[in-house]
Amino acid sequence: MIRPLAHCTFRYSEFGEAFRLMQASGHIGKLVLVPDRDDVFPVRAPTNFAVRADATYLITGGIEGFGFEAARWLVAQGARAIALLGRRGWETPGCEMRIGELTAAGADVRVYRSDVADRALLAMVLAEIRAGQPPLRGVVHAAAAIDDRLAAEIGPAEVDYVLRPKLAGAIALDALTRDDPIELFLLFSSATTLLGAPGQGAYVAANRALEALARRRHAEGRPALAVGWGPIKDAGYLAQRPAMREALARRLGAVPIPASQALAALPAMLASGLPVVSFAAANWGEARRILPVLGTPLFSEIDYNHRASATDEQLTESLRSLDPEAVQTLLQKVVAEEAGRVLRLPPGDLDRTRPLSELGMDSLMAVELRLALESRLQIDLPLVSLVEGTSVASIAVRLGNGLAARTEGAEIETLAARHGVVNEAVGATARTVVAPKTAAE
Ligand SMILES: NC(=O)c1ccc[n+]([C@@H]2O[C@H](COP(=O)([O-])OP(=O)(O)OC[C@H]3O[C@@H](n4cnc5c(N)ncnc54)[C@H](OP(=O)(O)O)[C@@H]3O)[C@@H](O)[C@H]2O)c1
Repeated sequence: MIRPLAHCTFRYSEFGEAFRLMQASGHIGKLVLVPDRDDVFPVRAPTNFAVRADATYLITGGIEGFGFEAARWLVAQGARAIALLGRRGWETPGCEMRIGELTAAGADVRVYRSDVADRALLAMVLAEIRAGQPPLRGVVHAAAAIDDRLAAEIGPAEVDYVLRPKLAGAIALDALTRDDPIELFLLFSSATTLLGAPGQGAYVAANRALEALARRRHAEGRPALAVGWGPIKDAGYLAQRPAMREALARRLGAVPIPASQALAALPAMLASGLPVVSFAAANWGEARRILPVLGTPLFSEIDYNHRASATDEQLTESLRSLDPEAVQTLLQKVVAEEAGRVLRLPPGDLDRTRPLSELGMDSLMAVELRLALESRLQIDLPLVSLVEGTSVASIAVRLGNGLAARTEGAEIETLAARHGVVNEAVGATARTVVAPKTAAE
C-alpha cells in the first residue's frame, strides 16, 4: 500500500492562505492546491495601461484592415503619433483616405513601406521613428499573410509564406525594440489557436508561436499581450471575403463581430495582466456539434459543452435499436442535414445519390462535414472517405457499416468479459474507424 506524504490541502481560491502558511513555515510536508468547480480567485493585479499623447505607436499591417482599425482605436484613445508599416506603403489601396482620417483626428501619421520580417529594413524604420517621432512606447503587430490549404497541400514554401510576416516579424520587433520604453506590445493572434481550423494549419501554428512569444516576454517582465481574435465582420481579410467569413464562422461556430466591438475590449484584456487572451463571440451550442475539441476539459466550464445534445443522444439510441433498413434511412437523413448545412442548401433539395463534389462541396467543406458527422455519431470517418464521387447515400452506407462493426465489437467484448477472456485484438475504443473507400463503392 502506498501512503501519501504528509500534506495539507487547499482549494485554488485559498492559495493566498497556503502561501502564507508556507511563508510562516507553519506546514508539515507538502501543500497541495486542488481545483474546485466553484472556485473564484483573482488572476493578477490589474496592469495600468493608458494610451499616451507623448508616445509613438507602431502598427505593422496597419495601413488597412483590422490593423488600421487598431490605429483608429489608438487615436480615439488619445494617441497622437502613429507609424504604420506595410510592404506596399502608400500604394496600399485607400491609404491616403485613411491616413487623412487619422490626421484630421489630430494624429501625426507616418507611413513606412517595409517588410516587418526583414530585420535590416525594420531596424531602419525604427531608427527613423526614433529620430522623428516621440518615444516608441507601443507596438501592435497585425501584419499577416493568409494561404489556406489542407495539410497534404502544404509544403515549406507555403508554411514560410504564412509564418514569415507573423512570427519572423514578431521576433524582429521583440529583438529590436528592447531598448525602447515599450508599454504596449500587442500581437494579433486568432481564436483558431484554441479551436483549430480546417485548412489553416500554418496560420494556426503562426498564431500559436505569437502567443508563445507573448508568454516568454511576460516571463521576462516585459509588456506583452497576444489576443486571439474571433472573426471580424467589417474590416480586414474576412470582411473582403464574405463566403470565407461565413465558412469559417460555420466551421468554428464563431459569430463575426465589428472591429470596434472587438477593440473596445482591449482595456479589459490589457488590465487582466495575462499574456494571452482570446476574444470571440461564439454560438457554443452550434460549435459543440461541429468541434469535438469542445468536449475536452479545457472547455468544461462552458455550459452544455461537455454533453452531447439531447437530440444527439436520442439519435445514437435510435441507431442502436433500429433494423438495418431504418438505420440507413436515418443515417441518410442525418448526412443530408449536415451536408445541407455545409453547402447552405435545404437538406430536402439534396439529391442523395449525386456526388457531393457536383453539388459544390470542396475539400475543406468535406472536412467540415466529416467533423460534424463524427461529432454527432461519435464515429471516426477518415477524410479519404469523402473523396470525389461520394454521395449522401454512400456516406450513409459507410457509416452504417462502421456502426454495425462497433456493435459487433461491443458484443464480442461483452462475451469475452463474461467468459473471462482478455483479448487485446477486440479493441476497447468507444469510437469506430470507418474503413477507407474501396474501389467497388
Ligand atoms: N480579420 C479578421 O477577421 C481577423 C480575425 C482574427 C485575427 N486577425 C488578425 O488580425 C491581423 C490583421 O488581419 P486583417 O484581416 O486585417 O489582414 P489583412 O487585411 O490581410 O491585412 C494584413 C496586412 O499585413 C500587411 N503585411 C503582410 N505581410 C507583411 C510583412 N511581411 N511586412 C509588413 N506588413 C505585412 C499587409 O500589407 P502588405 O501586403 O502591403 O504588406 C496587410 O496590410 C492579422 O494578424 C490577423 O491574423 C484578423
